[in-house]
Amino acid sequence: MVFEQIVSGGCRSYLVGCEETCAAAVIDPEISQIDRYLALAARDGLRIHHVIDTHTHADHFSATQQLARRLGASAVMHRESPAPFVNMRVDDGEMLVVGRLRLQVMHTPGHTRDSMCLRIEDRLFTGDTLLIGATGRTDLPSGDAEALYDSLFGRLLRLDPELSVFPAHEYKARGHSTIGQEVAANPRLQLRDRGAFVEMMHNLNLSMPTHVTEALRTNMSGGKTTAQLLAEAAAAVPFMSLVELNTRIEGSCNDLVMLDVRERDAYEAGHIPGARLLPRGQLELRVNQELPDPTRRILAYCELGLISTLAVATLRGMGFQRAVALDGGMKAWREANYHVQAGKEP
Ligand SMILES: [Fe+2]
Repeated sequence: MVFEQIVSGGCRSYLVGCEETCAAAVIDPEISQIDRYLALAARDGLRIHHVIDTHTHADHFSATQQLARRLGASAVMHRESPAPFVNMRVDDGEMLVVGRLRLQVMHTPGHTRDSMCLRIEDRLFTGDTLLIGATGRTDLPSGDAEALYDSLFGRLLRLDPELSVFPAHEYKARGHSTIGQEVAANPRLQLRDRGAFVEMMHNLNLSMPTHVTEALRTNMSGGKTTAQLLAEAAAAVPFMSLVELNTRIEGSCNDLVMLDVRERDAYEAGHIPGARLLPRGQLELRVNQELPDPTRRILAYCELGLISTLAVATLRGMGFQRAVALDGGMKAWREANYHVQAGKEP
C-alpha cells in the first residue's frame, strides 16, 4: 500500500494507493493542501479515483468537492451527509474498491450523524469519531453523545487491538496509535458506563472551533469560502505595485484610469491623486457610463486590496481586458507616505 499522512495544522488527511494498479483515494482533504495531494499522487504515479470525507467537518474547509471535480473522481460521503456535491453516498458494511485495496465503511455516528470510519487492511481511519487520547466532540450540529458511545464501545473498541488508528485531527504531532492503546489509555474511554460517558461528553464545555459557521456553510453546501473567492480572483487578475503606480503618477506618464472602489466618505477623506470614485457596490451597473472605452487601462484600488481584486476580476469578466488591481490598498499607500488628496471628485 502506498500511504501518505498529510499534516495541515491540526488536520490530518491521507493518500492511500494501490501499488499494483496505481489507483488511489484521498481521505479528509483540506482546502489549503490541494496542490500537495496532486503532487504526492503524481510523485508516486497514482491516479486518485475517490475523494472521501469521513463526515461533515465543522473545523476545517474540505477540499473534497474541488479535488473530485478537478480529477473527475467520485466525491464520497456517508448517505446522511447533506452535501449536494457528493455523488457517491455509502453506508455501513459497504466497500470502496481502490485497485487491489478494499476500503471498508463503518457508519459510526456520534460526532456527527454522517460520521464514518474506513478500514483498510491493518489501518483504521477514524475521522473525528476516535482521536488519539480523545474522541470527537458531540456538541456541534447533529452530534449525539449516546450514538458516539454506541459507535465507540459497541463497535470500534471491539476491533482488533493491533489495528492502527489514523484520526482526522491530531494536535500533539503523534502520527497514529492503536485500538489497544486507546482502550488502555484514552482518558475519554475510561468511563465505560453509558450514562457516565454521556454526562462527561455533555460537560466538556469546549470553545467553538474557529470558522465554524463558514466551515459548516461551505462544507454542507459546496459553496465557496471567502478565502477561496479571493484566491480565485487573485489568480485571474494582474496587479500593479504601489511603487510602480507612484512612479507613473509622478512621471506624468500615467495612462491609467484609476478607480477608487471604496465608498464616497472614504474617497473624500483621502484618495490617490487623479482617481475617480466608483464604489464596488455600483460597479456592474455603472461601467457602461463610467468606462465607455473597454480598451483603456484601468487600475482599481480599495482600502486593503481585497475588494479591488474582486472588482478587477469582475471587470475582466465583463470584457475590460486591461484592468489591473493595486497590490495593496489605500492603507498601504498612506503608510508608504505617498501623496494623498482629500475632497470631492472634480
Ligand atoms: Fe469533525
